[in-house]
Amino acid sequence: MSYEYITVASDEAVGVITLNRPKILNALNLQLINELVEAMEQFDHDPSIGAILLTGNERAFAAGADINEMADASAVEIMKRDQFAVWDRMSRISKPIIGAVSGFVLGGGCELMMNCDIVIASETAVIGQPEINLGVMPGAGGTQRLTRAVGLRKAMEMLLTGDSISAKEAWQYGLVNRVVPVEACFSEALKLAKRISRQAPLAVQVIKKTVHKAEDLPLQEGMDYERNSFYLLLASEDRKEGMQAFLEKRKPRFTGN
Ligand code: CAA
Repeated sequence: MSYEYITVASDEAVGVITLNRPKILNALNLQLINELVEAMEQFDHDPSIGAILLTGNERAFAAGADINEMADASAVEIMKRDQFAVWDRMSRISKPIIGAVSGFVLGGGCELMMNCDIVIASETAVIGQPEINLGVMPGAGGTQRLTRAVGLRKAMEMLLTGDSISAKEAWQYGLVNRVVPVEACFSEALKLAKRISRQAPLAVQVIKKTVHKAEDLPLQEGMDYERNSFYLLLASEDRKEGMQAFLEKRKPRFTGN
């Protein structure tokens, strides 16, 4: 499969996707998002891949939706494009997505980062939702996911001023997992993705899904969901292997069954 606005590679069991529109700071046009979701779905269906790493370049992870594509389109045209449906497909990817972000992480770029399950940010990352400066607002989860991540007051401040925050502040608010020097950002994220890709595949996917339920469900329903997921994993071959390997003091050989 060849793509125009992303590059795709694999490193051991990690599928690596790099946004590749450097001249305009990886602005997210419709084609780029479609290519991205298609590549993610391919990795999701590939049994040799255990985790997905998503990155941009040092200057920009992504500076938001492509403003050129929106500037002259009418509300009805944009509604008919149904451009956010493809984002919904992204949130159904079952394997963990690790983000490695540097430079501008703005608007749709911030929303894309928030679609990642774990984020390694470089010290240069500048993160925000500046849509208000264009007279609009986020449309791919910026008001909902940012509020869940950083709390109502910080989200309100960021969304109403359009001001960005530094990587360090994002870390203090729990919006990113770790802040590292720019030259270490990709390698740290890759190391983490490789570690996760060696875990029992079914457990990884069920844990990802169950953790996301914590954002949607009331506590007791979430607890019930967790318990059923736990029982489901007990039926897997990998739990037999994991426990047997522990007792035999050896490394487990997980197969995803
Ligand atoms: N869409 C289209 N082009 C963009 C872009 C975007 N979101 N962001 C940057 N570019 C282009 C610039 O137009 C410029 O192109 P030219 O060289 O052809 O002029 C090129 O990228 C480099 O950008 P700058 O010269 O502006 O670089 P800078 O370092 O001076 O500024 C910046 C960088 C602060 C990120 C600035 O480019 C900027 O403010 N970009 C827009 C950010 C933004 O508003 N994002 C939100 C978009 S709306 C959205 O995302 C909606 C949603 O939720 C789905």
